Amino acid sequence: MNTSTSQPQDPGGPTDPEDPRDHQNPENPQDPLGLAADAPLLAGWLDWMRRAQAGQLSPMTTPGHKQRLDLVGAVVAGDAPLYGALDSIKHANHLLDDAQARAAALWGADWCRFSVAGSTHGNQALCLAIGQPGQEVIITRTLHRSLLLGLVMAGLMPVWVRPEIDPRSGLPAAVAVQTVRDALAAHPDACGVILGDPSYVGTTGDLAGHAQAAHDAGVPLIVDAAWAAYLGYHPDLPRHAIAAGADAMVTSAHKTLPAYTQGALVLARTERLDAARLTRAFDATHTTSPAGSIMASIDAARALLARDGQRLCARLLDGEADLIAVGMPVEMGDRDTVVPIVTMADDEKRIAAFTEELISSIERHRGQSRRPAATAAWTVRPQTVLAPREAFFARNETVAVAAAIGRISAELVAPYPPGVPVLALGELITAEALAALREVAADGGRIAYAADPTLDTFQVVAG
Ligand SMILES: Cc1ncc(COP(=O)(O)O)c(C=O)c1O
Repeated sequence: MNTSTSQPQDPGGPTDPEDPRDHQNPENPQDPLGLAADAPLLAGWLDWMRRAQAGQLSPMTTPGHKQRLDLVGAVVAGDAPLYGALDSIKHANHLLDDAQARAAALWGADWCRFSVAGSTHGNQALCLAIGQPGQEVIITRTLHRSLLLGLVMAGLMPVWVRPEIDPRSGLPAAVAVQTVRDALAAHPDACGVILGDPSYVGTTGDLAGHAQAAHDAGVPLIVDAAWAAYLGYHPDLPRHAIAAGADAMVTSAHKTLPAYTQGALVLARTERLDAARLTRAFDATHTTSPAGSIMASIDAARALLARDGQRLCARLLDGEADLIAVGMPVEMGDRDTVVPIVTMADDEKRIAAFTEELISSIERHRGQSRRPAATAAWTVRPQTVLAPREAFFARNETVAVAAAIGRISAELVAPYPPGVPVLALGELITAEALAALREVAADGGRIAYAADPTLDTFQVVAG
């Protein structure tokens, strides 16, 4: 594997090695850090915007706002389609290919696609890219709903693996490599291994070990790395999934890189995955009218990561040290756990201000009872009775909670955050799962995706 391209790039002599703003481009305040030179989609977007602002465009194409800001207002400012704005409909794919090739090179992949539909779309594309309907797949039970619905779309049958739980904090550690090896040995016809790393609470596992386990069994390792777009871009950070040996990874550029909401990347190495199948799977559910602004922001975020990633990550790591020094683990807040998301748009000042705020909040609540309760999402031991796809398409009925126990769930029910299902499609509804969900609701937690979030009724497969 070529990992050299996944290393941080030499930034090339700024005056202050700490500060990416040394690349300020006063000639173009629309591109303050001068990223367009290495970002073809961004360059296309900037050129389109310059002409739109100069009143040089009167497009007879979509989007319907035609760059007018006097109808629905500023909400459409900056919106430009990839096809027909960033370049002509005929040529825009050349820009896109160029931008995606740059991203593939940066991550050490040989296949890359930019998505305007989040890691949700990326995860589902990868589910559609492996295996045949009815085939088993080894997959973490602490999965995001996008993967569960990916199984429905692809007709794959889950063989669940679960993370170890840290007894002190009740948080999920990682899925042990031996757990994956055992599952592969027990299910030799499984088409692949799908894991989430890092977990929603930031814990990471032995991805190199998982890759080896999957490869020893002759199948690909796929990693949902939605939260990890900048992993691997500083020597003190864990390697990203591709560098660790994974065959494919999905990451949200909008989560931890400074990209538009919905921007995501799917990256793959095509030794064990077929490039044409990957492309078909990706295109199957991607819009045919991608927003050029989102695409350009992914390209720009990639260029920033390549040039300044190491310095920006160093600033984050310095800040997080601060957090550790005051005893803080580092987006989710429940009775026991606070998970702030630190992105490349943060710096020491913002992290310090957050830390102060967090400390005073803890001081205000000191003395209230706390127990290291394991969140139900991490500990649930489900009994899968029907394949998720069968449960999704089965006739279903609504029953009162008391009648739900012992029935098969036709819906996904998850406390949010973290959005990991306590009840997944096709699973037996148990008293234990209901009690766990009620406890979350009583604690003020949001119950997501359920038809009835009050938990009075449940959607079950009709008997
Ligand atoms: C682990 C994980 N995977 C995938 C997703 C979906 O990401 P997106 O919102 O970019 O579709 C999320 C969203 O929070 C997530 O937490």
